Amino acid sequence: MVEIQDYTKALDILKEYSSGDGLHVDTLLDSDKHGALTYNDFLVLPGSITFPASEVSLETHVTRRFTLKAPLLSSPMDTVTEHNMAIHMALLGGLGVIHNNCPADDQAEMVRKVKRYENGFILDPAVLSPTATVADAKQLKAKLGFGGFPVTEKGTLHSKLLGIVTSRDIQFHNQLDDPVTAVMSTELVTAPAGTTLAEANEVLRSSKKGKLPIVDQDGSLISLLSRSDLMKNIYYPLASKVQSKQLLCAAAVSTHEVDKIRLQKLVDAGLDIVVVDSSQGHSLYQIAMIKYIKQNFPQIDVIGGNIVTREQAAALIAAGADGLRIGMGSGSACITQEVMAAGRPQAAAVRSVSSFAARFGVPCIADGGVQNLGHIVKGLALGASTVMMGSLLAGTTESPGDYFVSNEGQLVKAYRGMGSVAVMEDKTKSGSNAGASRYFSENDKIKVAQGVAGSVVDRGSITQFVPYLVAGVQHSLQDIGVQSLDALRDGVNNGQVRFEMRSASAQTEGNVHGLHSHEKKLYA
Ligand code: IMP
Repeated sequence: MVEIQDYTKALDILKEYSSGDGLHVDTLLDSDKHGALTYNDFLVLPGSITFPASEVSLETHVTRRFTLKAPLLSSPMDTVTEHNMAIHMALLGGLGVIHNNCPADDQAEMVRKVKRYENGFILDPAVLSPTATVADAKQLKAKLGFGGFPVTEKGTLHSKLLGIVTSRDIQFHNQLDDPVTAVMSTELVTAPAGTTLAEANEVLRSSKKGKLPIVDQDGSLISLLSRSDLMKNIYYPLASKVQSKQLLCAAAVSTHEVDKIRLQKLVDAGLDIVVVDSSQGHSLYQIAMIKYIKQNFPQIDVIGGNIVTREQAAALIAAGADGLRIGMGSGSACITQEVMAAGRPQAAAVRSVSSFAARFGVPCIADGGVQNLGHIVKGLALGASTVMMGSLLAGTTESPGDYFVSNEGQLVKAYRGMGSVAVMEDKTKSGSNAGASRYFSENDKIKVAQGVAGSVVDRGSITQFVPYLVAGVQHSLQDIGVQSLDALRDGVNNGQVRFEMRSASAQTEGNVHGLHSHEKKLYA
C-alpha cells in the first residue's frame, strides 16, 4: 500500500471504499452466515456528532394513530403495570399497558383512573373516617410516609369533607384512642371542582396550607392537592396525551371469547389502545379477536402479538392490527424457549418483523430482553418503534406490590412471568379469567409453565429512571450521528448507520473488567 503524504486527502480517499466501515444491518443479521443474533451480540458504530443530545427527537408511533415522545412501554404484567405505573409512564412520555390478571371491573377502574388523572391532583387520596383514632392516623402516616389525611363522613372519597388531620395535629397527641375528630383541623381552605392546577397552586401558596381538598357543590371530597407534590416537578412536557388532554391509556385483553365483555368495560372507561396479549400471537383466536375489535371499536387501536416471524406478522396485519408486539422467549422471567423449543433470538426477531411491518406502516414494539439502556437503542436501531420492559421497571416505586428485604439484605420487589406457576395458582385474582390466559386455556389438564417467579432490585421511582433512559437514548443517537428515531431507521436501512458483531471476548471487553471492585451507579 502506498503511503499518502497529503493528509488533507483523507476524506477523498475514503470515497474509494465501496461501503462504510462495519456491516450493513442485513449482513449483520444474516443468520445463514452466523446464526441468529441478539442484543449483546452486536454494537452500532458511532457516526459524527453535529448537534447537542438535547436536540435529539425520540418522537415515535406506538400504533398507526398514536405517537409517543419517548419510545418506552411498560409490560402488561401484574408485577409491573397497574394505574400508578400507567399514569407515570404516560406523564413521562411513554405508555404503560395495564395487565388483565384481575376482574374486568378492576381493570376498567384502573383505566378510569388513568383517564381521570389530572397532573398534580391526587384522585385516590388516603381518607379517614370520623371513628378512626389518633393511633390509626399515626399508623397510616408511618405506612405511607406522609401525613395530612382528609376525614370524611363515610371515610371515603365522594363523601362530605369534615376536616383534615395533619402531621402536626397528631405529632404530640398522646391519647392514642382519641378519635381523629378531636384533633383534626376544621378551618379548611378548599377549592371547587374544575379548579385548574395553576389556580389550585395559587390557593395553596397564598393559604400556606400543606393540602388543598377539592370538593363538589355538596362539599364532598373529590380529590386532593399536596404542596409537596407541587414542589416536585409536576409539569411533564413529554406527557402522552390524546386530544381531550387526557393521558393516553392502553390495557391488555386475552384472546378468550369472554374478554369481549372485558373489552367493552375498558372502552367504556375510556381506553385508547388495546393489546391482545398472547404468547404466540398467530392463532385463529387472535385473528378473530383483532377483526372483532376493528369492527366493533373502530375508535381504538389494537396491538397484536406476540410474534417473531414475517409470516406471523402478515397474518396479524391482514387481520387489521395497528401495531405489533415482537418477542417470544426473550423475557427475563421467561422459559418459553427452553420448554416449547419455539421462539427466536430477539434481535433477529425485531429486525425480521419490523422491516416487514414497515412496508404496511405498522409500528412494532420490541418486547422483552431489555436489560439495559443499550438494549433499548439496539431494539430501535433494528426497526422497532418502541421498546417494552418488564423486569427493568418492576423494581420501581410505581410498580404494584411492596418492597421487601431479600436474604442478601437488598431491597427488592416481586417480579413474576405471567406464565409462571405462581400466577396460575394465585387465588387472590378471583373473578379473573385472565391470570394465565396468555399461556394456558382453562381446559388444560396440565398447565405447562413458561415463566418463573422471582424478584428484582429496587430502582427508585420511574420519575427519575425513565428520564435517565430518555436522556441516555438521546446521547446514544447523538453518538450514532442521527437526530431522530426516523433518521436512525432511515440510516440503518440505507446503510449509513453501520454495525459490528461482537465476539465473546469483545463482549467481555465492553463490560467493566480488570477492576478489583467497583460500584455501578447508572445516573446522577
Ligand atoms: P423483560 O423486560 O425481559 O422482563 O420481559 C418482559 C416481557 O416478557 C413481557 O412483556 C412479556 O412479553 C414476556 N413475559 C411475561 N411473562 C412471561 C412468561 O411467564 N413467560 C414468557 N414470557 C413472559
